[in-house]
Amino acid sequence: MNSSKERENRKMAGTEAATGRMSPPSSPEDPVIQSLPVAIEAAPGLCRKDPVTGESCSWYHGFWPYLRVFGLAATPQRHGKFFAEMLGRLARDGQHRRVLVSGTADYAMLAHILLAYRDADPAPEISVVDRCETPLFLCKWYMERVCPDADIELKTKTTDILNWDTEDRFDMLCCHSFLSQFSNLPRQALIAKWRHLLRPGGKVVTTTRIDPAWTPQAAVFSPDQIASFGDRVYRESCQWREKLGIDPDEVAAAAKRYAERTRTNCIGSLEELRELFETGGFKFDHLMLSHLEGKAPSSQSGPGLNRQAVYAEIVASRA
Ligand SMILES: C[S@@+](CC[C@H](N)C(=O)[O-])C[C@H]1O[C@@H](n2cnc3c(N)ncnc32)[C@H](O)[C@@H]1O
Repeated sequence: MNSSKERENRKMAGTEAATGRMSPPSSPEDPVIQSLPVAIEAAPGLCRKDPVTGESCSWYHGFWPYLRVFGLAATPQRHGKFFAEMLGRLARDGQHRRVLVSGTADYAMLAHILLAYRDADPAPEISVVDRCETPLFLCKWYMERVCPDADIELKTKTTDILNWDTEDRFDMLCCHSFLSQFSNLPRQALIAKWRHLLRPGGKVVTTTRIDPAWTPQAAVFSPDQIASFGDRVYRESCQWREKLGIDPDEVAAAAKRYAERTRTNCIGSLEELRELFETGGFKFDHLMLSHLEGKAPSSQSGPGLNRQAVYAEIVASRA
């Protein structure tokens, strides 16, 4: 990628995609196998320690790449077409250059943005915020690996987004399944924070799971799901043992730790989602439900996993 000259050449070669006659590519380069040892080595040292329990989130960021390799993670790629179309439109209109990623498990959301903005001129300025350093480290690793010559500015900030402020105002804010990290009240605070960080007319582009049957019990893996998920990860690990040089018993133990700790807070309905955004000072440009098939049956999976689900795909403008 991305000297402005290269971008200009690609723009001329890619006019079909730019004019909408061809679908934009929806799969960015994803060196997930190469990133696995990088993430596993980085997570114990970089991951954030919970101020109350002292436990670090390496159970999450150090295990997530295994889920990605096994195809069991719920990633932005499940919404690749949506992100390609919506981010591509914003990239092409030239009005959405200052981009904020609001929370990300690794480099995957950044990869979709880079794909959509590959021909943008001027190049985007991308800021990534997460309360943990590990995903930010992986974003920098990805940039260096996939577009070393980019003239794209990447800023990272390790902070709880609810406590963060900056003089910068962004044109577009993007994330995947970040709303479900928050229960009802902090979610309203998150929407207010997003509004504050965007310029008037700035956009939120995101997806979030909608589950009318969600209950606080469904926020976590059940004991049976923990056991079946551990077995499933053990079997996947056996298939990858040689290629990745991994110990299936160790990876299954990490799966159990992940399943015991992870939780999600689903929004129950489109009405609840509408109210959240509209009372928070946004109006919808795009709100569609997407029905996704999953790789893992619900008996073997839980929050954060590639399971059958309904997601809302959202583009909303700051009023
Ligand atoms: C974006 S969410 C879901 C991940 C998503 N499925 C993906 O593929 O990127 C997970 C990230 O949110 C971050 N996070 C959770 N609460 C946060 C907060 N209050 N402020 C900043 N980051 C937060 C976690 O550290 C984690 O890296």
